[in-house]
Amino acid sequence: MTAVERTYQTMEKPARLQEKFAVREPQLRDHKAYTETLRVLTTVGEVSEAQFGEVLEHWHKSEVYHPRVIVDEANTVVAVGMLLVEQKIIHDCGKVGHIEDIAVAAGQQGKRLGDLLIQTLTAEARARGCYKVILDCLPENVRFYEKCGYTEAGVEMQHRF
Ligand code: ACO
Repeated sequence: MTAVERTYQTMEKPARLQEKFAVREPQLRDHKAYTETLRVLTTVGEVSEAQFGEVLEHWHKSEVYHPRVIVDEANTVVAVGMLLVEQKIIHDCGKVGHIEDIAVAAGQQGKRLGDLLIQTLTAEARARGCYKVILDCLPENVRFYEKCGYTEAGVEMQHRF
């Protein structure tokens, strides 16, 4: 059992998660379900299995990327998320976690899988020595993140290309 799984097992949440689900790292076999799940978040485009494999390898080689998926009993991906760990100079060379690209498959929402994913990624950031975790979201998702223990801080800015 990993540190993250141990941390999650000690939490009372999620109370309504009655079916059997597991958290693991994404694998090449997840290509279709992973990309389909992400479509509830935004445009994904046509990502081939080869491209998916290259990205997985890139993530795997790096200390920065910590992707996680939730799978059902058939080992099919039903939710995806990413933790990036940023090594800083400030705060005594502190580390900050960034949560990105959270998506729960349309038919699986409302079962506390989003909460499970956020608790897992947050525990992973803590286990890796981050002093905080931050994320950007739309106003309609603020309540969800508050229920996951996050508080509003600052304003997101962007410069789109
Ligand atoms: N507004 C208010 N409350 C919400 C919302 C919402 N949009 N979504 C969930 N909640 C509440 C639930 O009712 C539940 O509350 P409870 O504890 O009182 O019962 C709690 O939050 C936990 O909900 P989950 O069941 O874990 O939520 P779910 O599994 O449906 O995942 C998510 C939520 C990730 C927002 C999902 O609906 C989704 O994938 N949406 C589309 C993609 C998206 O918007 N992703 C987030 C982008 S932001 C980012 O990536 C950093």
